[in-house]
Amino acid sequence: MSLMEPAVRFQRPAVAGTPFPLREDDAEPHFLGQFIPLHYHHNMLMDANRMENFRSAIDAAVFDGARVLELGGGTGVLSCFAAKRASKVWCVEFNPDMVEEAQRLLAFNENGHKVEVVHADAFEYLPPEPVDVVICEMIHVAMLREKQVEVINAFKRRYRERFGDRLPLFLPTAAVMAVQPLQQDYDFFGFHAPIMQFQRVGAEHAGSAELAAPAVYSILDFDDTVEREIAWQGEFTMTADGTVNALRFVTKNILAILAAQGSTVDWLNDYLVLPLEAPVRVRAGDRLQVSFDYVTGGSLQSLARSMQATVLPMRSRLVA
Ligand SMILES: C[S@@+](CC[C@H](N)C(=O)[O-])C[C@H]1O[C@@H](n2cnc3c(N)ncnc32)[C@H](O)[C@@H]1O
Repeated sequence: MSLMEPAVRFQRPAVAGTPFPLREDDAEPHFLGQFIPLHYHHNMLMDANRMENFRSAIDAAVFDGARVLELGGGTGVLSCFAAKRASKVWCVEFNPDMVEEAQRLLAFNENGHKVEVVHADAFEYLPPEPVDVVICEMIHVAMLREKQVEVINAFKRRYRERFGDRLPLFLPTAAVMAVQPLQQDYDFFGFHAPIMQFQRVGAEHAGSAELAAPAVYSILDFDDTVEREIAWQGEFTMTADGTVNALRFVTKNILAILAAQGSTVDWLNDYLVLPLEAPVRVRAGDRLQVSFDYVTGGSLQSLARSMQATVLPMRSRLVA
């Protein structure tokens, strides 16, 4: 989804006997990041970067007469794109408000009648028959908060048990995740606030100085079992002097592979920029060691807290 309003999307569950709101990390893990209020779906529908790439990928992946399953259908928009050529689409959504909304909206659209909106939990649902394509957009940058990885892993396990080893095509098919050291301006009208933020892809980021090229830290292949634990340690060669006080996280989703054209349809999430607790001064040519770890579906804070950056001393540089 579009990532510009991460905090409000999370609704804290009521916990009996808890007088104060819970921290995000204390939330029941299955719940975190899964409830998206109705009005945010409008933002997702308005996000041309997301919509155009999903529509192209769905056009490429869904053949005439295909049977399609969408997990986490929201307004039903991606199911509706699929219904252009599919014979049948099951659109699974667990938020009852969204189930009603999807049914209402699909009725306005030409192929909406081919979409069956199913009120169910994507962790449990299996279609009544094998499907050709599974669409799932429960994607947050760095695969945090939302449950893409867990839902797809669980789905594959249950699908194999019911229908055998031949799996459907997954859309997205893979994700490439990268990290980049930044010097980030945290001055807000005289108020110093090193705070997590999102940056629109393709927009100017005047307050961000890139101090090294991004490095890929993980590649997820949804055809395979995807590990939830991500632990990375890597080195950057700094390209400019400055203070590394933030890390930018970049997630590129490979929505579809266009074999005939030798290309892919991709969707880049908004960038996530997290402040480092201990900023480090660097000079061009320095080697910077960066490490972090998190579990997919976990909170943004869990990643932020694990982040560390250290300039490697000369001796290590010579040895390396
Ligand atoms: C990022 S939105 C995407 C909605 C829609 N597919 C689109 O592209 O506009 C993810 C959707 O997944 C739904 N969802 C989250 N967890 C779910 C679960 N366990 N089972 C079913 N739906 C779920 C949310 O309610 C939300 O509507």
